[in-house]
Amino acid sequence: MRAVVVYESLYGNTHQVAEAVGEGLRSGGAEVLVLAAQDAAGAIEEADLLVVGGPTHVHGLTSERTLQAAVDGAGKHPDDPAPDVSGPPMKTWLEQLPHGVGCRAAAFDTRMDKPRLITGSAAHGIAKRLRHHGYEVVGEEGSFLIHGGTGPLVDGELDRARAWGEGLVTAG
Ligand SMILES: Cc1cc2nc3c(=O)[nH]c(=O)nc-3n(C[C@H](O)[C@H](O)[C@H](O)COP(=O)(O)O)c2cc1C
Repeated sequence: MRAVVVYESLYGNTHQVAEAVGEGLRSGGAEVLVLAAQDAAGAIEEADLLVVGGPTHVHGLTSERTLQAAVDGAGKHPDDPAPDVSGPPMKTWLEQLPHGVGCRAAAFDTRMDKPRLITGSAAHGIAKRLRHHGYEVVGEEGSFLIHGGTGPLVDGELDRARAWGEGLVTAG
């Protein structure tokens, strides 16, 4: 099975989770590519399983508006790491995703370490859009917690991400 893990990450947390999900998929026997959203064109068509993850912004997935808010926020809080906004927001990337007839898919996010009712979840919106594009979404949505608004990841979340990735190999 060929799996492609596509991520968006402003501060590196979702990138780390994506790599851990890739490790889990590999230990389950899959051939895996882990790619930033802006580098994923061309690889997706070859995938049997597409895994998409991004940070939770304003209760959902990122948009041009929330990336701008991250840039504006960095100006106001100089102690925070600078956000990497070189890629497209997840909302835009998913709008341009080719139709995925017959392809399995899964969604994950990172979010603040608070109840989901308060934080919202990007994974939910990602999964919904994958279904609209004809993908068969499998497994539970993955959601991985960070400290504060920019990380680092909470202890144990990378292990949880590996286990979630491995579980996707047989989810269906
Ligand atoms: C503009 C903006 C809005 C955010 N809104 C939320 C939110 O509604 N819920 C939440 O849990 N985290 C929110 N966060 C925190 C992000 O989820 C966090 O920065 C992200 O998980 C870190 O992942 P990354 O390092 O891969 O970007 C927000 C962050 C930014 C910059």
